[in-house]
Amino acid sequence: MTERLGFSAQDIQRAADLLGAGERVAFPTETVYGLGADARNGVAVAGIYEAKGRPSFNPLIVHVADVQSAREIGVWSDAADALATAFWPGPLSLVLPLRAEAGLSELVTAGLPSVAIRVPAGDLAHDLLRRFGGPVAAPSANPSGKISPTTAQHVLAGLDGKIAAVLDGGACAVGLESTIVGLTGTPTLLREGGVPRDAIETVLNEVLLEPNGREISAPGQLLSHYAPNAKMRLDAEHWATGEKTLGFGPMECDLNLSESGDLVEAAANLFGHLHLLDAMAGGTIAVAPIPRAGLGAAINDRLKRAAAPR
Ligand code: TXA
Ligand code: MG
Repeated sequence: MTERLGFSAQDIQRAADLLGAGERVAFPTETVYGLGADARNGVAVAGIYEAKGRPSFNPLIVHVADVQSAREIGVWSDAADALATAFWPGPLSLVLPLRAEAGLSELVTAGLPSVAIRVPAGDLAHDLLRRFGGPVAAPSANPSGKISPTTAQHVLAGLDGKIAAVLDGGACAVGLESTIVGLTGTPTLLREGGVPRDAIETVLNEVLLEPNGREISAPGQLLSHYAPNAKMRLDAEHWATGEKTLGFGPMECDLNLSESGDLVEAAANLFGHLHLLDAMAGGTIAVAPIPRAGLGAAINDRLKRAAAPR
């Protein structure tokens, strides 16, 4: 049963406490309602994908209360400073190089060395982030493939019973997702959104590049650089000599995604375990079969991409 929360201080504190307990809470921002979870908690973040029924792991936007918190997560620059000063709090997300000590779950960044961050406008979102006191990963609060929600009713229509709570702050002012600007190299427009392109170009005093005219939603391409160096063998029913082994369920292996066969736990461990196995001496990484149900679809999608010839 999803709790309906309003905008009293008590309700916002309740939402912050639920986030702290690793639960999913939908909350209004000025753009659309976000489905939030503690960005440092891999199991909580995996729960976002589970609730949305996302078939793949897209990198998520991290929401923080202020610029200082953003600087603790992303590597800051003059361009970041100029854009943050001009547009935060507001409907702009900045993709910055990820700081090693940021402490985010790798599921948030889908294993990328960069991170999308924004300081949302709206008293409710700000109060929630301030009370929670940490980074909140939040995609739009709708089932995968459905329209983004701009009211609490929209959220409940898609996710009732699948998330701990929704904070009802009425209709979103912007109603369209944030603009995403990449600042890991030459400033690039990664997604059109609430802040118009020319307003950003005026502040930066330069023309934004276009990556290839589309939102980065296919982590396969995005992540090709991240694919393990080792070859991968999927759906392995038994281990061969010399292989580095990634198990699922009770079995002998080097690392186990989830000994109890829990797909949420497995998703939370996926990127971290692949990193560790890749760093280990040895040959091919063999992966036990992972069920395709629920989050298993996204896990298998990611594994397939990691194993693709390159
Ligand atoms: O308005 C919004 O931005 C809403 C509200 C809830 O804040 N959030 C939202 O989040 O739209 P989401 O997770 O649906 O958007 C994620 C998109 C990805 O599809 C990708 O395009 C981009 O953000 N993104 C995230 N991290 C990235 C990264 N490291 N590099 C490039 N693009 C990234
Ligand atoms: Mg969305």
